[in-house]
Amino acid sequence: MRTSLVLAACLAAFAAVPCYGQSAAAIPHLEKHGTATQLIVDGQPFLALTGELGNNSATSLEFIEPIWPKLAAGNLNCVLAAISWAQMEPAEGRYEFALVDGVIDEARRHDLKLVFLWFGSWKNGLSSYAPYWVKQDFQRFPRIRLGTGKSMELLSTFGDATRDADARAFRALMRHIREVDGTRHTVVMVQVENEVGVLRDSRDRSPVANQAFSAPVPRELMDYLQKHRDTLAPELRELWTASGSRTSGSWEQVFGPGKPDSVSMPIQTTAPPMTAEEHESSWRSLHWPSDEIFMAWHYARYVGKVVAEGKQEYAIPMFVNAWLQQPNHAWPGTYPSGGPLPQVHDIWRAGAPAIDMLAPDLYLQYFDEVSERFVRNANPLFIPETSANASNVLMAFGKFNAIGFSPFFIERTVAPDTDLAAAYRVVSNLAPAIAAHQGTPEIAAIRTRQGDPPAKLALGGYTLELTFTGRGRPPIAPNAQAPQTSQQEAVQGSAIFVAAAPNEFFMGAVGGGVRIAFTPTTPGPSTVGLGDVQEGRFVDGKWTVVRQLGGDDTGQGEILTLRPNTTLRVTVYRYE
Ligand code: DGJ
Repeated sequence: MRTSLVLAACLAAFAAVPCYGQSAAAIPHLEKHGTATQLIVDGQPFLALTGELGNNSATSLEFIEPIWPKLAAGNLNCVLAAISWAQMEPAEGRYEFALVDGVIDEARRHDLKLVFLWFGSWKNGLSSYAPYWVKQDFQRFPRIRLGTGKSMELLSTFGDATRDADARAFRALMRHIREVDGTRHTVVMVQVENEVGVLRDSRDRSPVANQAFSAPVPRELMDYLQKHRDTLAPELRELWTASGSRTSGSWEQVFGPGKPDSVSMPIQTTAPPMTAEEHESSWRSLHWPSDEIFMAWHYARYVGKVVAEGKQEYAIPMFVNAWLQQPNHAWPGTYPSGGPLPQVHDIWRAGAPAIDMLAPDLYLQYFDEVSERFVRNANPLFIPETSANASNVLMAFGKFNAIGFSPFFIERTVAPDTDLAAAYRVVSNLAPAIAAHQGTPEIAAIRTRQGDPPAKLALGGYTLELTFTGRGRPPIAPNAQAPQTSQQEAVQGSAIFVAAAPNEFFMGAVGGGVRIAFTPTTPGPSTVGLGDVQEGRFVDGKWTVVRQLGGDDTGQGEILTLRPNTTLRVTVYRYE
């Protein structure tokens, strides 16, 4: 039977951990826990083991019907599904919620939570999910203009009527969700819009946008930046300083030059040509900064208003997602200019205080580095789109205190015998321990790789020396099957550790096993013996032993091996 994934935080095993959940009646919300922020559902922290459906899979109940059972079988406890503004409001003021209701009902039937994605004014920069009545009326709902003078199907942030129409529809949606789900809490969060930003130019160049661009930077933004100067993202602070730390002036005076007129924007290519070093560093720095910052401010104001309206009805956590800058697409406009990328997080915070999280669509190979940039200033990490990389799952929850992990187009790959399903089982087996220790020094995750020297981890009064042991023997947890992976994937993995109490650890690994040697870091006897070594999992908040290990499985009590896709509770003791 699938472990219940609504977590019990107040366990006998964690008597030292205060019970911090609110009453079960509270709606889904975020709560600080140490340095982490957690999603609380029905009074308990919820680690979202999720996947995002293909863009249009939830546009009919018939199409999605065969997908539901696969999601639960792949160990998901949550799914991300899009709601299209065009489909929900086919004529102005006429809202259709039958599909929303059907998706909520089916999610409940399959014991899944839901995160809805509001495909409103923007999806991947463009405006393809805006209703026909919006698209047609380009006078009332203006589009951006490119430097070429051309328009495109990309609604402008300078259309107040568009913003208000989007906000009205979103508000109606949130009112409806409150009415049908306000006491059931199936819908736990909402993503508002999708990968916003200007494409094919670095900013909107319509006459009204040009006018705003040459006007002074709004006082509100300048005040925010001055007030938060010490905690600004370093890349933003540096360029502000380089431009003379001005506290007033036009966008270009305060933040430096925008794109020169001489550069014309090809889509998705590098411009101008780069050296190999520039290529590597390009995606970590701001180019044509005033254009990107200007757009970030205007997207933040617009989306922030939509979010604030929705929250008037039902204030569950809401986030926006970013199409990231990439080595090959490093110039704003080759990626959506003004989206919630890490270099402009401060601008988004200033412009849209109602937004709870700024989230990465994290397909880049630099998973840890990007995650680091997203958790700055206590931004909680939720990854709405990524690839189904099992090692990243443990890193996300164990190192970056993630709220959730969500491979894109999940229905294409989800299955019970995948690496992702194994990683999700590891997290759900240990969920109460992970949730109780996120945001504290008592949790860690580490990448492991064949051929690497042993890694050292300081945790719970010991140094753990970790030696990679490879695929090892197949897992023996009930229902667990050996995942099928390529040879390349088999030589690396990750492991998660929780020091739950003095001399007591919970741990799990994916991709490969590790041998663990303990050395005390506090005065006292120096030799460490193994006490209990138990394979098992948390069931309804209680550790349940599946197999007690000794003899051959622990090198006659002298060798602790954490095998891939297993979860252990280990106690240790010291002697001379
Ligand atoms: C990122 C978008 O947010 C998704 O909706 C989808 O279009 C994927 N890209 C496609 O790879």
